Parts: sequence; C-alpha cells; structure tokens
Amino acid sequence: MEILRVEHVSRIYGKGETEVRALDDVSFTVEKGEMTAVVGRSGSGKSTLLHLIGGVDRPDGGKIFVEGQEVYHRSQKEMAIFRRRKVGLIYQFYNLIPVLNVVENITLPLRLDGQKINQDYLERLLDILGLSDRKKHLPKQLSGGQQQRVSIGRALIHAPALLLADEPTGNLDKKNSQEIMELLKYTNREWKQTTLIVTHDESIALQADRIIRLEDGHIVSDEKNR
Ligand SMILES: Nc1ncnc2c1ncn2[C@@H]1O[C@H](COP(=O)(O)OP(=O)(O)O)[C@@H](O)[C@H]1O
Ligand SMILES: [Mg+2]
Repeated sequence: MEILRVEHVSRIYGKGETEVRALDDVSFTVEKGEMTAVVGRSGSGKSTLLHLIGGVDRPDGGKIFVEGQEVYHRSQKEMAIFRRRKVGLIYQFYNLIPVLNVVENITLPLRLDGQKINQDYLERLLDILGLSDRKKHLPKQLSGGQQQRVSIGRALIHAPALLLADEPTGNLDKKNSQEIMELLKYTNREWKQTTLIVTHDESIALQADRIIRLEDGHIVSDEKNR
C-alpha cells in the first residue's frame, strides 16, 4: 500500500539574486512499512523535503499525498490536525519541553489533540524506549540518547502514518546512535512503521531498506539496499 507520493515537488527560497532552488522536480513514492534513508551533502535539500512531507512548509510546485490525500489541499485547521495525527517528527536536538517530564512530553500531542491516553500503549512504548524507570524525569535529568528516545516516543504516540527523522543521530556518539537506529528498526519491523530518516552517516543509511540520494535539490539515485 502506498503511504506517500511526492510528485514533481519544488521549493524555491528567496527571489532574484538570492534565489535558491532547495528542491527541484522531486518525485518518488513510499510503500507502507518501508524504511527509507535520505542522504546528501549539507544544503542538498534533505530538511526541506522532510518539512514539506510533514506539512510544516509549502511546496512552490508539485503535490504531496499522504495516505492518498493531498497534504497542502487542506484548510489551516485541517493542516494542524494532519501535522498532529499523521506525521511524527524527530529532530537532531530533541526539542523537548524542559518543564515537562518524560510521560508528559510523550503524551503532549495527545493532550493538545484532546484525546485520551491509551495506558497500555503508553506502557508498551515506554518499555520499548527503555524509559519505564524514567517516567517522572525531566529532560535535563536525562542523557542525550534518552532525550532522543523521549522525542521518538512523542512522535510515535499517535501511531503516525509517517515517522520523519531529520538527522536523529546527529548529536549522539556511535553507541547511542546505534541504539536509536535499533529502536527505529524495531518499530519498523514490529509495527510496520513507515520511516523516513535523513542522515549524512553512510553506516546509518545502509541499515535502511532503501537509500534516496539528493544533490542540489535533485534525486540522483534511489536504490534498494542489498
Ligand atoms: N528558510 C530558508 N531560507 C532561504 N534558504 C534556505 C532556507 N532553508 C534552507 N535554505 C537553503 O536551501 C538549501 C537546502 O537546505 P536544507 O533543506 O536545509 O538542506 P540539508 O538539510 O540537506 O542540509 C540550502 O542551500 C539552504 O541554504
Ligand atoms: Mg538539514
């Protein structure tokens, strides 16, 4: 089943002399359960692509469909709901709320959405994240790897159609990076969680099912691993 369709998408920043074509006619599709790495040098358009898919930005050309529905063909209100329920975003620097503890950070998207917390799912998630004994800890009381695991929990609490990770291991050492990768691979395997992971680390990219390479806003290759 097709989860994501990116059709001739372009994004241009600035005008005239300062114009930058961050993405230029990018097209690809992703099936449910695929784990795709997006790689490319700094400035190649990786973050721009992820933001467009996540409904955070807006393309200057082309269309994006998530679960068959056009992302930017929605009202502002519908867009906010799409961002909350359909995508989970993970960033390099965690972006946790400092005054909220682990459970409060993870369940924040549900509470913002006025939804009940499924306690069984929350406990299962905390267990998978290795945070069952850290529920009441604040972000500053956690290691970098633990903080990133909280942000993964927050991204997964809605069981999103797409998990979008922008350099999720970029701030972590090798051991913690691999732990985060094992976690993403686990949720991908067990829950068929469709995952797009931006990275410039080849060893991370090689663990995905597929690698899309970007150069200057273009896809230069799109290949299955192994
Ligand atoms: N808000 C912005 N305003 C102007 N230019 C931008 C903006 N965001 C990104 N760019 C430019 O677009 C290109 C792609 O950026 P980005 O998607 O962040 O690349 P990557 O994530 O691969 O490093 C770069 O040349 C960058 O300078
Ligand atoms: Mg980037």
